[in-house]
Amino acid sequence: MAHEQVSPMESSWEILEEYHIDKDVGFALPNPLEELPHDYDAWIFIAKNLPELIEIGQLRAEVEKLPMLSVDDLQGHKVQRLAHLVLGYITMAYVWGRGDGDVRKVLPSNIAVPYCKLSEKLGLPPILVYADCVLANWKKKDPRGSMTYENMDILFYFPGGDCGKGFFLVSLLVELAAASAIKVIPIILSAIQHQDLDTLRKALLDIASCLYKAREVFYQIHEHVDPKLFFGVLRIYLSGWKGNSQLPEGLLYEGVWDTPKKFAGGSAAQSSIFQCFDVLLGIQQSAGGESAAKFLQEMRTYMPPAHQDFLHSLEAGPSVREFVLSNSDASLKEAYDECVRALVSLRNYHLQIVAKYIVIPARQQSGKNEASEEPSELENKGTGGTDIMNFLKSVRSATEKSLLKEG
Ligand code: HEM
Repeated sequence: MAHEQVSPMESSWEILEEYHIDKDVGFALPNPLEELPHDYDAWIFIAKNLPELIEIGQLRAEVEKLPMLSVDDLQGHKVQRLAHLVLGYITMAYVWGRGDGDVRKVLPSNIAVPYCKLSEKLGLPPILVYADCVLANWKKKDPRGSMTYENMDILFYFPGGDCGKGFFLVSLLVELAAASAIKVIPIILSAIQHQDLDTLRKALLDIASCLYKAREVFYQIHEHVDPKLFFGVLRIYLSGWKGNSQLPEGLLYEGVWDTPKKFAGGSAAQSSIFQCFDVLLGIQQSAGGESAAKFLQEMRTYMPPAHQDFLHSLEAGPSVREFVLSNSDASLKEAYDECVRALVSLRNYHLQIVAKYIVIPARQQSGKNEASEEPSELENKGTGGTDIMNFLKSVRSATEKSLLKEG
């Protein structure tokens, strides 16, 4: 594909498009499809009725009687992304069932075979990823209306009512806010190439202000996501089978591999936006500890390949940080620091959210006192399987360390 040869250095918007980055929705899939060809109606039926089928105890039986469908007729990127989303929902529901600990360790071949073939085509793992449930799982209610929470919906639901809608759509809206900052990247790289300090300074300030706006969008999570439902219901359906004591060996994809495979669950850590600005600003996540950097690298393998390529090409491009450091222009350094501060403030805010949506409900569930120092295994595991607070704090501190000016 062409995106292997071009670099965002060469600037213009068309080049970002080569990396499947859209001018309005950034890393999100523009106008995702809602329908598969009729041959796949049985998949859509299950995915559309997932909470009800789980409720009446019929979901697994419905999955087991699915015919084995070939994915050869799923032509085109958007159709394939929709099918990956649908199979991801079905797989999560099949494995976790009612979310009460009665789990399945084998995914039947009638679903495993097409799912793995399709995943291979897309370069995604055979598990529900952020690129499915957030980036490709949305529609506008009124197509002529704007991209606001009120005018949007998700395509598929998990049990937990509107909790999934809240979590997925607010994440998507953060992506959309960040899309305005992505647009500035080619301007930055071209300004460096032409040694145009004034344009570079303005572009950096522009990015910082978009990132602050993205943080404001984040506030909507409180209005739309209930901590108890998030922690007790949705988080279970997003969980993966890597580092998960309920499936210590992983999941056996029947008819595909002879041994179980481990994959991490769906997490916004698989979003490209924060990583993209880390790379652009030369923030070394390894400064926050090897394991955090390793986890973030691993999360890249859950992103669409075009987005992974974009991050690689940014890494291979000129270093904004080195350029700023090599110039004695104080206002340029200040503009760079403003971007870093914006990222730190996003990560700070995210940490508060994680405390509210994971740490506190976990403590309540395990009947622990809120002042207790020792974290339990429950409160310590994110859906991606990390030791969350340590991980998130080290990512934040590596970001802070990149400030050129202290204080
Ligand atoms: C209820 C809301 C949220 C919760 C409970 C939450 C939880 C978590 C957890 C537990 C992690 C650690 C990795 C893992 O094990 O999965 C994580 C990482 C991450 N999350 Fe969230 N998250 C939420 C919303 C969001 C949103 C809306 C975004 C932005 C679109 C986001 C972006 C990230 C990123 C980029 C990371 C990787 C760490 C970093 O780069 O700072 N999260 N999140």
